[in-house]
Amino acid sequence: MKLIVANWKMYLGVKQATHLAERIRRALPRPRARVVLCPSFPALMPVGAVIRRSPYALGAQDVAWEERGAFTGEVSARDLRELGCAYVIVGHSERRQKLGETDEMVRRKLEAAVHARLKPILCVGETLTHRRAGKATSIICRELKAALQNLQLTTDNVQLTIAYEPIWAIGTGVSATPRDVVTMHRLIRAEAERLLGRRARVRVIYGGSVDSRTAGAFLREPEVHGVLVGGASARLSFVRIIQRASL
Ligand code: PGA
Repeated sequence: MKLIVANWKMYLGVKQATHLAERIRRALPRPRARVVLCPSFPALMPVGAVIRRSPYALGAQDVAWEERGAFTGEVSARDLRELGCAYVIVGHSERRQKLGETDEMVRRKLEAAVHARLKPILCVGETLTHRRAGKATSIICRELKAALQNLQLTTDNVQLTIAYEPIWAIGTGVSATPRDVVTMHRLIRAEAERLLGRRARVRVIYGGSVDSRTAGAFLREPEVHGVLVGGASARLSFVRIIQRASL
């Protein structure tokens, strides 16, 4: 089953997010894909209430690496679990680029998520400058190594999702071609499995200007295990993307 992740970023207010979740659930009560809604922190509870006892899953957009303590403004993995989250996005490029998140922070967040039995969705991706300089592959490998090498996993069989999100494709309306994406996904899966050994099951999904017109071409590829959708997930036409996963 494909994984479709809606990253609502800071696009929607709490009431808007709750209302959208209700409309999506009503429009498509039995999606033929695993669909994860990731609203902002304050909307987690009301959106969680809307999708409770439905096939939809709840995810957060970020997590603290510490469990408890004096960390003003942070939200722990344990609290996310308590609110009903099953998934969490870690290392999104907007956090890395605009909020100064480092490879080290990303790695610690990943560990915190795994320890709390949240399913992490780790984001990696190259900038346009890197791509033009022929460095896309080496950047992705560096990000994967920084996040995954010697990762402390307390349990075996962790389910790890890696989102390949070329930074130049995020929110720009220009997505990568399915061909490029398939090549990159093969590389990412092989590299992640090499770094993690047999301790994790790895899925690779694509993100970057996916909408209802482009989703089908990605989801058709067996190497693309799903999509992470930003802008196009924050409106009701998101259901058309979900429907593409079952064609
Ligand atoms: P976009 O965002 O779909 O708006 O390009 C994707 C993302 O940031 O994950």
